Amino acid sequence: MTIVHLRRARTSLVLDARGPGLPRVVHWGADLGPLPADELPVLVDATIPPVVPSSFDAPTVLSLLPEASAGWSGRPGLAGHRDGRDWSTAFRLDGVDVVDGGPEPGRVATGGAAVGVPDDERDHGGADAARVTVRAADPGAGLSLTVEITLDAAGLLTLRHRLRNDGDTRYEVRELTPVLPVPAVATELLDLTGRWCRERTPQRHPWPMGAWVREGRHGRTGHDATLLLVAGTPGFGFRHGEVWAVHTAWSGDHVTVAERRPTGEATLGGGELLTPGEIVLDSGEQYATPLLYAAHSATGLDGLSDVLHTHLRARPQHPRTPRPVTLNVWEAVYFDHDLDRLKGLADRAAEVGVERFVLDDGWLQGRRHDRAGLGDWWVDDDVWPDGLQPLIDHVRARGMQFGLWVEPEMVNPDSDLFRAHPDWVLQAPGRLPPEWRHQQVLDLAHPDAYAHLLSRLDAVLTEHDGIAYLKWDHNRDLTEAGHAGRPGVHAQTVAVYRLLDELRARHPGVEIESCSSGGARVDLEILRRTDRVWASDCNDALERLSIQRWTGLLLPPELIGTHVGPERSHTTHRVHDLGFRAVTALFGHHGIEWDISGITATERAELAAWVALHKRLRPLLHSGRVVRVDHPDPAVQAHGVVAQDRSRAVYAVSRLATSVAQVPGTVRLPGLGPARRYAVRLPAGVPEPALLELAPPGWLASEREVTLSGSVLGSVGLQLPALHPEQALLLEVTAVG
Ligand code: DGJ
Repeated sequence: MTIVHLRRARTSLVLDARGPGLPRVVHWGADLGPLPADELPVLVDATIPPVVPSSFDAPTVLSLLPEASAGWSGRPGLAGHRDGRDWSTAFRLDGVDVVDGGPEPGRVATGGAAVGVPDDERDHGGADAARVTVRAADPGAGLSLTVEITLDAAGLLTLRHRLRNDGDTRYEVRELTPVLPVPAVATELLDLTGRWCRERTPQRHPWPMGAWVREGRHGRTGHDATLLLVAGTPGFGFRHGEVWAVHTAWSGDHVTVAERRPTGEATLGGGELLTPGEIVLDSGEQYATPLLYAAHSATGLDGLSDVLHTHLRARPQHPRTPRPVTLNVWEAVYFDHDLDRLKGLADRAAEVGVERFVLDDGWLQGRRHDRAGLGDWWVDDDVWPDGLQPLIDHVRARGMQFGLWVEPEMVNPDSDLFRAHPDWVLQAPGRLPPEWRHQQVLDLAHPDAYAHLLSRLDAVLTEHDGIAYLKWDHNRDLTEAGHAGRPGVHAQTVAVYRLLDELRARHPGVEIESCSSGGARVDLEILRRTDRVWASDCNDALERLSIQRWTGLLLPPELIGTHVGPERSHTTHRVHDLGFRAVTALFGHHGIEWDISGITATERAELAAWVALHKRLRPLLHSGRVVRVDHPDPAVQAHGVVAQDRSRAVYAVSRLATSVAQVPGTVRLPGLGPARRYAVRLPAGVPEPALLELAPPGWLASEREVTLSGSVLGSVGLQLPALHPEQALLLEVTAVG
């Protein structure tokens, strides 16, 4: 029983684990340096609140699991009962194990059957992580608790509770939510919401007293899921301010919450949203919460991304091969599958430099439209009389990988599968959920349904030679999602993870994209078993700028699918130049979603030039630090990627609309080495954007490049050309000398 001080990167975590109750987080935030052991108790004492009028007679402190028995009157960390009893707990500390600095990551011992996410051999902290395991019990309530904490080399914190029922009778878990304290200097909140084609829309406001609760009840992560819930100092931005953020890593119903109380505490937390009766533990069973990821930055939102991106890139399963430029045929052909047409499209794709060709929805039995066929995982004989292999061979003969769309969890009532097994559908007793895109959700907790689906997906991958990629779609919410008469979202979520895990184990070379009506399944738990996300069905570059910026708060560019769409966007009807579309799609896992068989030779040549530029910049884009500019004009959006060694960078400056100011003002180029000198130029080989000016800024007029120090570029910036609205300028920056 001790005071634990963990330090990684620029983050410290101090835990008062001296008992007798659950440990308290004394500090989560900036690195405190190597504190001497005798200073830790002084630090703990210095943070104990006073006793004030009309309150408990002793100071109340917030533990890792807030309890009423410790004087907590906010949202409880645990809510549950045993047929109306054991509804409140007073956990006592049994032990604390700390593994800090050892070569082998400490594994957490668990007992009993797991009801939550499966115990998972894939490490979520990495070998360099510091780990704390807290063991506590409330024998009176018949419960024991394990709290797993990691602080990894990037400074990313994870928290997970495991609750075990030690009693003889069943115990229902209604809520189990890890929380972390945030200091009083954090007075503003930022989170994200959204809808189909408008994912990740930021919203920010002062942090009021009370709870700001973001609930997702979609049975999937949701278009409106807040990838991060951020609390920070007033006016924090991308490059400034102190910020704390959490991410609830769960692809089912979940809650992420910020709570500020008149008693002085403020917390961030997140967990699973449980339906009554969903988690009822038998004697000896345990429930594990989703992982709560938590990051701190003293340098604004970019610092948070830095922690998260560094963590993700260090994972063993992080994709490390160059991300293949992808052409997805959805917006090119929709359901109109025709071998010759698709072969022609593949030829054009290869000509412009595409490296992966993905056949989307429409290939399975009877799936001529979205009202039939889902669930019948056989290739349609009428449309594909010789199967998919001729197309796969054609694609591969042109040096491209072949990818295939699937939507495994779904079934159309108009399908052979549904007709044979109407009981394999998630539903409340006696009625089917309302249809959504004419489909229902297969009950993957039903062993036969699960086994059937696994064997069909396995067969599709085994029977075809050369499927390198699955686009794994999921096009509806789970509504009244019951399994065997009981709430089924939790079991479904765990089953989907298991399905993905089993399929990956059988086909380790196959990459998987997480897509869900665009970007409705973006979270760090699905990303432990998938290789990228589809950010949105909206390929309109103007909308995409915002969607990608905010998706990128959590994910590095190589995990975000970004495609060049057609001139007129299919989802908004806006019209954009190719340059604007291409610059926007450059900063991700690049691709094309456009019928390029119908475009002119000039357009094709320009597209090929943009693809070639992406490939040249790809090593930088997919390994560097993401930076965003806090520009005073909301109509200007600037962002970039800087090499980890700061030897080069690429920035994009986009004009979203016109502004009242005639000239845009200077744009700072953040993240460069202040003492180094850099040449800034427009990249060769691609057209420049449309400008609204009679003469360009001085540095562009003559030499078309400028050399300045990183400190000047970061603090003064450059006067940029006056862009027409919905135009973007790309800047390449290279260290000289
Ligand atoms: C929704 C996806 O987001 C789209 O990209 C496409 O795959 C369609 N489903 C196909 O039905």
